[in-house]
Amino acid sequence: MSNCISTPYFAAVNSIKEYNIKQTENCGKQPAAFVLTLGCQQNEADSEKIKGMAEDMGYVVSDSPDGVDLIVVNTCAIREHAEQRALSLIGQYKHLKANNPDLIIAICGCMTSRPERADLLRQSYPYVDIVFGTTALDRLPEYILNRMKGSKRIFTANEDFSVVEGLPIKRESSFKAWVSVMYGCNNFCSYCIVPYVRGRERSRTPKDIAEEVKNAVMNGYKEITLLGQNVNSYGSDTGGECDFPSLLESLAKIEGDFTLRFMTSHPKDVSDRLIAVMSENEKVAKHFHLPLQSGSDKVLKEMNRKYDSKKYLSTVEKLRAAMPDIAITSDIIVGFPGESEDDFEKTLDVVAKAEFDMIYPFIYSPREGTPAAKREDMIPDNIKSERFDRLIDLQNELSRKKNEAWVGRTLRVLVDGMSKKGNGLYTGRTDGGKLVHINSEKIKIGEFAEIKITGADTYALYSDER
Ligand code: SAH
Ligand code: SF4
Ligand code: F3S
Repeated sequence: MSNCISTPYFAAVNSIKEYNIKQTENCGKQPAAFVLTLGCQQNEADSEKIKGMAEDMGYVVSDSPDGVDLIVVNTCAIREHAEQRALSLIGQYKHLKANNPDLIIAICGCMTSRPERADLLRQSYPYVDIVFGTTALDRLPEYILNRMKGSKRIFTANEDFSVVEGLPIKRESSFKAWVSVMYGCNNFCSYCIVPYVRGRERSRTPKDIAEEVKNAVMNGYKEITLLGQNVNSYGSDTGGECDFPSLLESLAKIEGDFTLRFMTSHPKDVSDRLIAVMSENEKVAKHFHLPLQSGSDKVLKEMNRKYDSKKYLSTVEKLRAAMPDIAITSDIIVGFPGESEDDFEKTLDVVAKAEFDMIYPFIYSPREGTPAAKREDMIPDNIKSERFDRLIDLQNELSRKKNEAWVGRTLRVLVDGMSKKGNGLYTGRTDGGKLVHINSEKIKIGEFAEIKITGADTYALYSDER
């Protein structure tokens, strides 16, 4: 079910705006807001809405927390390290509150959706004003207004899981747009906290998604990334009238010069039709992010992933048969409880066979409340790190070979920034999502360009023709 933003939302936004206009007149300076985003693209997309709301409330969005009047930290809970990082960053804001008692500090996102972390913030971070979960984004103006009026500190748990449409969005980029197609996850992989903090799957309507994509394209956006924890199950909560392949196909028909990407796909339900829609539609980028997690069938079963290595590799084969140039990337967890040397070698074996373009390797991190965290056969840290290094060594070799195969070819690249390598070099991304360092005077950030690849290493492609 989807809802439009409510009357209390507008009332709160307007009251704060009026207050901020008066502040600007009195102090000669517009109140500012700083939004810190941790975690994945879902959080980045949410933060763009928080920034949109902040602007509507009359704040100017700042890229530094110094001297601002509102700080929002959008947290991640995927691994212990992500939570520790959030807590340490929040700790750094204590002195800002001491300098400016009117500063409002709000913490949201996946970490705050864990009751134990919300309690920790309540007890050990007294300068934090507002703590709210992933499903209450649209309530932020009300919370801020209440706190401005002197209410007690605000702590809310996730309650209303309906999809809210119509929030303003202040996009980070002027040419790359995130568009969420669904929220939440039903898969309950045994290591993963996401279903607990983001709730069950909720799909947006095809109409709302198409409007957002059309709008972005009309405003010059060149790359649209459709987001969901498992986009393959798009629509299954709304009667299955429009599934993900149909959604993708209809979005690819929108007129304009743009590329469509999507993430993430669960290997258990990549359909032949999705592969066909990808290969038949030029606008769909030839890149597939397909998290393997482990190459051992025993571990996959214990992870509750619902596919085995054979099925995984057959999907990879189908993708390459339909789209020979496709880039395939993956996530892999090393050191899942009970992972033996033999299990790990099976992962290395599948990684070698799949010939990924790139992987995101992770060391298993126990998440309280998930089934895997209760296990007693945890892998010692030194073995986890040793396996992690071996996996990276193997993938580096594969990535270098994959990248070298592009040398000599001319590719369409979306130029997206200046290269840190200096000397006026640009960076861009190929259709397959590969980073290219480009030495050219004829290209412009935010536009597509035809680029001849002249070099490659493990991490990037290079184009060195002026
Ligand atoms: N929905 C996506 C992934 C979301 S989380 C999917 O299913 O593929 C991104 C990645 O973080 C996961 O693919 C997994 O590799 C990793 N991850 C999740 N929980 C983890 C944990 N407890 N420890 C280490 N890595 C984890
Ligand atoms: Fe986590 Fe699995 Fe859901 Fe991905 S599919 S978010 S790994 S539970
Ligand atoms: Fe994303 Fe982290 Fe939440 S990976 S969904 S922000 S737990």
